[in-house]
Amino acid sequence: MRTVATFADVRKGDRGSVALVPTMGYLHEGHLDLISAARRSSDTVVVSLFVNPLQFNEDVDLAAYPQDLARDAALAEQAGADMLFAPPIEEMYAEQPLTSITVAGVGELMEGDHRPGHFDGVAVVVAKLLAGIQPDRAYFGRKDAQQLVLVTRLGADLSFPVEIIGRPTIRERDGLALSSRNIHLSEAERGAALSLSAGLAAAASAVEEGETDAATLEEIARARVDAEPGAHLEYVTLASQADASALPALEVPAFLAVAAGVGTTRLMDNVHIDRVDGTWVPDLGSRLDRPSILYGEA
Ligand code: PAJ
Repeated sequence: MRTVATFADVRKGDRGSVALVPTMGYLHEGHLDLISAARRSSDTVVVSLFVNPLQFNEDVDLAAYPQDLARDAALAEQAGADMLFAPPIEEMYAEQPLTSITVAGVGELMEGDHRPGHFDGVAVVVAKLLAGIQPDRAYFGRKDAQQLVLVTRLGADLSFPVEIIGRPTIRERDGLALSSRNIHLSEAERGAALSLSAGLAAAASAVEEGETDAATLEEIARARVDAEPGAHLEYVTLASQADASALPALEVPAFLAVAAGVGTTRLMDNVHIDRVDGTWVPDLGSRLDRPSILYGEA
């Protein structure tokens, strides 16, 4: 695997079909699943690693973002990447961009409501990665369900010749959705953090039993988080997979998303809900059967 720093270097040579996995690094099994899927689909797998300042609302959050290039390079290579694109800030933003991208509607509720400007920053960096790398396919996690909707619309609206592929959420053994931010959780905070996935699992059971009303499903998830004094709920919303708008009931493919603060860490999770043969089927993704590589067993 080669580590490259410029778009020109990523585009060099005969690449065949190209799959891109955009990341901000500090890789875990969620990222590795995307890289493995990319490996199965394409001749050349490019993993990008760039902690994008445009999408952070707070400088402290940006400064606290974990970074370890040598660790990430080894993990990306093991998972099957051919190239790690790790650009310096000057390659991505030689100048502060004057162009802004707002995927109207999609970025307004949920994360958009709680993190002003966040999705415009995501949209710009993803557009730059798609334009500069020119992949045939790009892989994103459903863990960030609203981001996946946004990127899908961005690709379609601006006619990027790329297929956007979403993959199910990978969870730790106890059900906590994998996130690079999990390393900041103390043991007590981890206990509180589990209320998010527990609430979603309870709502998923209700869906399996035929519940389709948004307020009811949201209340089931909310109750678990509210019962946990260490977790501070930001939102719980049933939203459409097509445009991330809030739904009154399960009537189109959806996701039930929750976000909460636990200590100084912000956590997000969701359950994906599709209609299969006329029945609503929740999908929480899969769980690891061992401790995550986040905790030093890389
Ligand atoms: P990052 O948080 O590093 O995530 C990179 C990709 O991994 C995203 O598509 C995300 O949805 C996916 N991912 C994260 N945790 C996951 C999990 N537990 N299971 C499955 N997939 C998971 O998301 C970003 O970076 C940035 O916003 C980015 C798209 C790179 C733009 O800067």
